[in-house]
Amino acid sequence: MRIPSQTIENVIQTATANIVEVISDYVELKKKGHTWWGLSPFKSERTPSFAVSPSKGIYKCFSTGKGGGVVNFIMEVDGLSFYEAILQLAKKFNITVELENTPYNPDDTAKKDSIFIINDFAKSFFIFELEKSAIAQAYLEKRGVIKDTQALFQLGFAPSSKNALTQAALKYQFKAEYLLESGLSIQNDSGEWIDRFRYRIMFPIRNLQGKVIGFGGRTLDTSKETAKYINSSESIVYNKTYALYGIYEAKESIRKNGFAILSEGYLDVISLHQNGFQNAVASCGTAFTNEQARLIKRFAQNITILYDGDEAGIKAALKAIEVCLEEDINVKVLILPNQEDPDSFLQKNRKEDLENLLNHEAMDGVQFKFNHLKTQFNIHSPQDKVEIIKSIAETLSKIKDDLKKALYLQKIAAQLEVSENLLNITVNKKIVEESKTHRILSNVNQGFVSKNQRVPYYDTEKELLRLFFFSGEKTIQIENQVFTIKDALIQKFKETKFYTEDFEEIRKEILSNPSDLDQLVKRLLNHENTKFGKWITDFIINVEKLSPHWERYGIFTQDIDSDPLEALNSVYLHYDLEKLEEMIQKNLEAIQKANEEDQIHLLIRQKKLLQLREELHKKLGIVIPPGKIG
Ligand code: CTP
Ligand code: MN
Repeated sequence: MRIPSQTIENVIQTATANIVEVISDYVELKKKGHTWWGLSPFKSERTPSFAVSPSKGIYKCFSTGKGGGVVNFIMEVDGLSFYEAILQLAKKFNITVELENTPYNPDDTAKKDSIFIINDFAKSFFIFELEKSAIAQAYLEKRGVIKDTQALFQLGFAPSSKNALTQAALKYQFKAEYLLESGLSIQNDSGEWIDRFRYRIMFPIRNLQGKVIGFGGRTLDTSKETAKYINSSESIVYNKTYALYGIYEAKESIRKNGFAILSEGYLDVISLHQNGFQNAVASCGTAFTNEQARLIKRFAQNITILYDGDEAGIKAALKAIEVCLEEDINVKVLILPNQEDPDSFLQKNRKEDLENLLNHEAMDGVQFKFNHLKTQFNIHSPQDKVEIIKSIAETLSKIKDDLKKALYLQKIAAQLEVSENLLNITVNKKIVEESKTHRILSNVNQGFVSKNQRVPYYDTEKELLRLFFFSGEKTIQIENQVFTIKDALIQKFKETKFYTEDFEEIRKEILSNPSDLDQLVKRLLNHENTKFGKWITDFIINVEKLSPHWERYGIFTQDIDSDPLEALNSVYLHYDLEKLEEMIQKNLEAIQKANEEDQIHLLIRQKKLLQLREELHKKLGIVIPPGKIG
């Protein structure tokens, strides 16, 4: 199934024209000049740093850096895919969406919908059964789950009879085939249709939109032979890798609090939620996955792991730490005393006690890993120390942010009583090993580059694009000929590839349809890939005019408004300078490797390059620090 592109355009246009109205459903906006301001929906804050510009059809959140068009906003705030966001906006504006069949899986969506409907039916069935069952109610009462919480998490009960649900579903004309696919019914050895879940408290597992994708069931049977928990089998709508129990109920709170609590079990999430920790989720029945981490990351950058204090819990926590670091999430670990899990802890203690532990006892993930290593190995034995260094280096190698990594290096090296340099070398080795087998993930990819990290071409490429999007329609005159900045730059874009991945993608987008700048901006602002929206927003926004506090956000604000030709020249020169720097560097490396005869030629070349650089520096008014030689 596909949404016709005409409809997508219509939705984008309508929603963009009403961007203030759309965003007002989430943020209280106040008008100041041409811009509307409010508190960021992505982060708790006291002073508004969230801006909406109806004339440009964009939003910009200065405290998180997010930005883009209205569709991008819905994607971010509700954690939706592009198509889901379009559907949601279509609904808001009463735009009819007639789905087109794609040649591929014509009834895939129909099948998915059927499974969702069956799951929903089962959920209601289980809720009804819970209302009827004194035993099940007594159990939940004993576990301290109050009625409101039961309703919020839509808890239910699967009765003990062999096939109560299957019978009911068939009576309601649900196709047997789909019952099987949903995992609610199974065929036993004698070919009989029976319920998968019997005599169990039922926990519907929901996706981000609140739709039931599967179930977990806890037995009321106390005998050892019965599995305590079972889960739905995977289906077309239930992929365990992506599912995260409680995410629907928690997402708002995760965003507001800036962090998620990651626990292990259904009842942990429920107890936490009931005690005011609404930002709790659990990866039920699987180890925490990168996909689940990314799901959380849509709402916050921080995770506190709150697993059981037993051996299995610690092992799982160590694994989850690595996953968080790989996904560039800040991670802390809190191990509860006396091998309690969050649920049992909260049964015996006050919520303030947990609050306290979270605030004061949660340990940084890397430090946690290091401390754990120290319990496994003897730090005073050189042989063991090697193992510790190797293992912690592996962990450190996963940290994406250079500054963060440097700080950890310092901290851990001191505790190991080895030099930072030694640890750094080991870390770099791991990175090289990793990049050989895996992909190299650059920080630039993530859209952020720290100030002290010089990434070749990054600034100049960014400025070229900013000039294009911000001043593209402005005209310049060169020797009696008048050009638009846009046309002048398109020439340049055709000649050079960009080094920075995001910018290269934008360059390609520009060249794929260079004629209409307005169209291009509109398309990119609400692109499926939200990073386009973020960049374009940064390019077209005049930060200086928008906010007196722009400096805080470190956004480049050279005034390209006043003299476009001058701005263009300056960016070109910077670009040439980048190229030159690269050549100088390469030449230098060649000199070091070359034999004597070649060296002479290369040295002459180096001298010329350095002269050129000096000229460029003069033109750009750059003062060369003394002693800095290529
Ligand atoms: N789990 C599972 N299958 C099992 C055991 C556990 O899927 N056979 C998952 C469940 O999501 C469960 C979580 O792992 O909630 C943690 O299991 P455990 O610590 O054994 O149970 P608790 O959550 O403490 O369950 P309870 O408090 O109900 O005893
Ligand atoms: Mn428990």
